[in-house]
Amino acid sequence: MVVTIWPVALVPDSAVLRYRRRMELWAVIVAAGSGSRFGRLKQLELLGGRRVIDWSVNAMRRVSRGVVIVGPPVLDDVETLDGLVRVDGGASRSDSVRNGLAAVPASATHVLVHDAARPLVAETVVDAVVSALVDGAEAVVPVVAVTDTLRSVESRAVDRDRFVAVQTPQGFRLDTLREAHEAGLVASDDATLIEGLGRPVVHVEGDPTNMKITFAHDIFVAERLMEDR
Ligand code: CTP
Ligand code: MG
Repeated sequence: MVVTIWPVALVPDSAVLRYRRRMELWAVIVAAGSGSRFGRLKQLELLGGRRVIDWSVNAMRRVSRGVVIVGPPVLDDVETLDGLVRVDGGASRSDSVRNGLAAVPASATHVLVHDAARPLVAETVVDAVVSALVDGAEAVVPVVAVTDTLRSVESRAVDRDRFVAVQTPQGFRLDTLREAHEAGLVASDDATLIEGLGRPVVHVEGDPTNMKITFAHDIFVAERLMEDR
C-alpha cells in the first residue's frame, strides 16, 4: 500500500533535529555483493579519492548511532573506526541484510538499510527518510520517476506513470524489519518484504543523482556528478 509522496521541501527540519531524543537509529550498509555486472568489487573502487563504500558509510554515520557494514573481510579497516561493526554477507542481498540486522543492538528502535553502491546519496534524501520515521512510518522508501518508456517482458507497453524506481536508504522500525526477515523471504529490496507482511510503505522523494553504481561506466558518471557538487 502506498501512502504519500512528500516533496522534500515540505519535510520539517526540526523533525530531523528532534529525532535523537525519540529514537535510536542504526544503519546497515550492504556491501557484500560480488559486482558481477561491474567486473570487480565496485564498493572498493576509488571515487573522488575515496572508496565508494567510504562515501556511503559517511552518509549513514551523519544520522545514525552506529553502523553495521555487511561486507568482505577486505573491509576490516573500517572496524577500527568508532561506532562501526563489520559482519560477513550472505548469498543474496536479503541474506546480507539479515546478517546485518543480527548485529544491530536490541536498544535500537529504527534502522536505515543502504546500498554501499550508492555513494552519492544526498543529505536531503537521508533526512526525508528519517523525518518520515520520526513521524511514525514503519517503512519508508525514496522513489524517483521512471524516465524510460517501459514495456513488460511479455511485450506489452505499460503505463510508466504507475511506476517509480526505488532507491536507498530505506528506513524501518527495527521490530517490523526483523519480523519481515524472520519470515525468511527473499526480495531485491526490503520494502518488498514489508509489503509481504501487509504493512504500509511510505514513499518520499528520492534523487535521480542517487544512482547505484552497477556497470563500469557508472563510475565515470558518478565522478562527474561529484565534481559538480
Ligand atoms: N549486496 C550484498 N550481498 C549480496 C548481494 C548484494 O550485500 N549477496 C549489496 C551490494 O554490495 C550492493 C547492494 O547490495 O551494495 C546492491 O546490489 P547490487 O547493485 O546488485 O551489487 P552486486 O550484487 O555486487 O552487483 P551484481 O548484481 O552486478 O553482481
Ligand atoms: Mg546483485
